[in-house]
Amino acid sequence: MKIAVAKGDGIGPEIMDAVLSIFNANKVPLEYQVVDMGKWVFDKGFSNGMTPEAKQTIEELGILFKGPMETPKGKGVKSVNVTARKTWNTYANKRVFQTLHGVDTVFSKAGIPIDITIVRENIEDTYGGIEHMLTQDVALSRRFITRPGSLQVIRYAFEMARKNGAKRITCGHKANIMKLTDGLFLECFQEVAKEYPDLKADDVIVDDLAMKLVVRPQEFDVVVLTNLQGDIISDLCAGLVGGLGFAPSANIGDHIAIFEAVHGTAPDIAGKNIANPTALLLSGIAMLRHLGLMENAAVIENSLLFTLEQGVHTGDFGDKSTPALNTTAFAEAIIANLGQTPKHGAKALLANKPVTTTAFKLAKNEMMVSEDPQQEEILGVDLFIESSEQPDFIAKKCQRHAGVKFNLVNISNRGTQVWPTGSVYTNLVNQYNVRFESIDDSALNQQDVLGLYVSLSGDFKICSSELLNRWGGKKAYSLAQGQ
Ligand code: NAI
Repeated sequence: MKIAVAKGDGIGPEIMDAVLSIFNANKVPLEYQVVDMGKWVFDKGFSNGMTPEAKQTIEELGILFKGPMETPKGKGVKSVNVTARKTWNTYANKRVFQTLHGVDTVFSKAGIPIDITIVRENIEDTYGGIEHMLTQDVALSRRFITRPGSLQVIRYAFEMARKNGAKRITCGHKANIMKLTDGLFLECFQEVAKEYPDLKADDVIVDDLAMKLVVRPQEFDVVVLTNLQGDIISDLCAGLVGGLGFAPSANIGDHIAIFEAVHGTAPDIAGKNIANPTALLLSGIAMLRHLGLMENAAVIENSLLFTLEQGVHTGDFGDKSTPALNTTAFAEAIIANLGQTPKHGAKALLANKPVTTTAFKLAKNEMMVSEDPQQEEILGVDLFIESSEQPDFIAKKCQRHAGVKFNLVNISNRGTQVWPTGSVYTNLVNQYNVRFESIDDSALNQQDVLGLYVSLSGDFKICSSELLNRWGGKKAYSLAQGQ
């Protein structure tokens, strides 16, 4: 089987060469097609950081093993790492954090074992990068959480947890504050949990989760989160097991999967051959298991664990009183130990399965929609206006535009109600949300809303708008603080 390999920028080529030398020494039955991705590809004028040939190869082969890549600083260029994950719908980011003997941490010294798998949603949330300045002072980021997207990643997490014999699966969220977005994610979690009665499923508010992971990490098994919260919590977990040098990551989709280390290009040590290749090696081992190469994965992982147990280390970890090895020598030590069994956490030598690929040519984009469409009604509109006037003055002006169909219900500033009631102690910025709802809760149409929009635009600059919808009798918008 052939897979695509992108060596990456900074320390990428050094650690990728080290990992592939270990794979070759173990006669891993894979061929590698090197593809052009990364900073130097941006520099050549390819605005998404990869050549069209690279894109085609990855779509044909279905597996990308990649080193870290630098995103050129400055406006208009998006991270090639994020572009790759999103374009190919690798919706689940799986990161496994395990105690490694030989890598000293507060927990290993206290004899507390850690084995946590974080599944982070990988496409949605604020990572859409859909951001606008609404006024000179006000920036807005759109945070998308969708039902199909949440179900996809949550289902993956439950399946993976069951397959790996996990006992507990936890949803981290902030549904107490973000009732619609995180609320939807949590609702999807609770829905899917019903299909897996054998797994203990629970949820923890993300700030509490951060504290509990630090205080009692041994109580957690699989944790599933939205994108940004998952990003932060997984770096916290990397810290629990020794830092970024030990944090692998798999980006899993239905057709394409990307394996990479969590860390970046480490520009401060690039070109010196001193980087730690362990995180990329662990990512590569996860890739071998994903492909069914169970025996190769186990032999290489056992050798890595054995090598770490011997106290062999690169400069970023380990006993400072013993000399650190460089990247190449560290890889050579692992090669020399192939076939050895570690004292702790030895992996069983399961036989390799026939390698298959999930990549195939798709004829069109897949549309993911809820199966159960509900009756929709428009109840009103939130109009976001630019103004530096006081709330009472704005209310008087807005009421003139309400006409016979709308009521001015409330005015808020940064989400806090400032009219009809509020406090003079609430600081204001030059952007208000004026909320109009239909008189008597009756349904409106888009023309009604446009009429109001046109009328109000005579008095204010409208920076943005959102319809207030009701689906199946349920209001589908949040209340302002204090409403
Ligand atoms: P970084 O992870 O590259 O470095 C943070 C610190 O950890 C540095 O002191 C570095 O020397 C150290 N470090 C990281 N990996 C190491 C390793 N394998 N061995 C020894 N020490 C290691 O994070 P930073 O500096 O924030 O980002 C640098 C560049 O990497 C940026 O351009 C960023 O966009 C990119 N990046 C790429 C990622 C990817 O390709 N998936 C992920 C994160 C950052």
